[in-house]
Amino acid sequence: MDYKADNIEEIVKKVLAGMLGDKADSTAPAAACAPAAPARAASASSAVPDKAHVAVLVEKERFEVKEYPIPPLGDNDILVKVEGCGVCGTDAHEFKRDPFGLIPVALGHEGTGEIVKMGKNVTVDSAGKPLHVGDKVVTCMIFKDNPDITMFDLNKQNVGGADVYGLLPDDDIHLNGWFSDYLFVRGGSTIFNVSDLDLDSRILIEPCAVLVHAVERAKTTGILRFNSRVVVQGCGPIGLICIAVLRTMGIEHIVAVDGNAKRLEFAKEMGATETVNFKDTNGIDDLTAHVKDAFGGYFADFAFQCTGSPAAHSNIYKFIRNGGGLCELGFFINGGDATINPHFDICSKEITVVGSWVYTLRDYATTFDFLKRAQAIGLPMKKLITHKFPLDEINEALAVNLRQEGLKIAIVNK
Ligand SMILES: NC(=O)c1ccc[n+]([C@@H]2O[C@H](COP(=O)([O-])OP(=O)(O)OC[C@H]3O[C@@H](n4cnc5c(N)ncnc54)[C@H](O)[C@@H]3O)[C@@H](O)[C@H]2O)c1
Ligand SMILES: [Zn+2]
Repeated sequence: MDYKADNIEEIVKKVLAGMLGDKADSTAPAAACAPAAPARAASASSAVPDKAHVAVLVEKERFEVKEYPIPPLGDNDILVKVEGCGVCGTDAHEFKRDPFGLIPVALGHEGTGEIVKMGKNVTVDSAGKPLHVGDKVVTCMIFKDNPDITMFDLNKQNVGGADVYGLLPDDDIHLNGWFSDYLFVRGGSTIFNVSDLDLDSRILIEPCAVLVHAVERAKTTGILRFNSRVVVQGCGPIGLICIAVLRTMGIEHIVAVDGNAKRLEFAKEMGATETVNFKDTNGIDDLTAHVKDAFGGYFADFAFQCTGSPAAHSNIYKFIRNGGGLCELGFFINGGDATINPHFDICSKEITVVGSWVYTLRDYATTFDFLKRAQAIGLPMKKLITHKFPLDEINEALAVNLRQEGLKIAIVNK
């Protein structure tokens, strides 16, 4: 296994710096759980079984729960008892189409669980925070704290299956997807101690990081301010979390646009001040007039495009004032071309457009604090998880996801 030998020196320095500081700095993820200096006795839970159960996608649209032995831990490894894992759009794509040709593969990357066993060298997480048996953790797809890396870019990160959980096949240990009851976290992986968050919040970390990143991208325009009027188009999980992140930042004027009345109701619970159902409007001019009315006669200063609809992308420019900004984050995958008028929509209005795709490692750490703030101001984040299934009903869980019932679907172990 490649433990990224050329990074070790840097990693150890950062880990030592974290240990010497009086408190861990959760806003500055350093590197990996890594081989750290002072070894201590390996901890072990007596309740750890010999075998783990892993949902393996064995063919398109069929997971099979397989049994694999839990191998002995190396000095830098961690064994996690899985509590739950969200179903992501990426899992659904892989389940339906296997676009990357990964089958057979263990999936599930929005997972969380409790450390039941650790190698003797493991003392801190990737942010330098102490780690103990019993701590609740999440992994992150991003390994290096490099602002240029916003996605699990395997070439840039130079990883094998060791650090990326729930995406790449692992023919060696097999326990590398969170749709399972035990996850084997190899030394050198990115792992965070999030014991201060409850299970549902921990399951929501990954999708929330997408919105933390989008808001960070929006802030680079210099247009998004406390008193901005912000339109959020699309109220699926992504748009709803977007509203929540904006609310926790103190942004007051948020108009949500969707065609689904139930989702718009939820948008209000999440902090939207007004909602517009585009199905109750008659064409783009009327829709624009409704959005403007919802802001008390003003256009939006800033807009977040959170649908995967090219037509929605074309529309959103109309809602934005001259000199305003747009963050387009609705197309994780190619959704086709959109028509805009470069003169009217961007050039003459001097609109600043930013794109946003997934997140950086730093955004991940920010997300932990966002979730605490969201809870503190009473946002109903947990209502985003509409369905929970046990591991052996994972095929049904994915089917529910594909039928677009509910919002976030999760696999939860007893
Ligand atoms: N940028 C990223 O890194 C990233 C990450 C994850 C997901 N995404 C993308 O974000 C998008 C939204 O994700 P989601 O999980 O919320 O999806 P979703 O399908 O659950 O929600 C989309 C919402 O948009 C609404 N909608 C559709 N057309 C509309 C229109 N013309 N005007 C207003 N609303 C409209 C739908 O009614 C629905 O409520 C997806 O397309 C996904 O690919 C991007
Ligand atoms: Zn995901």
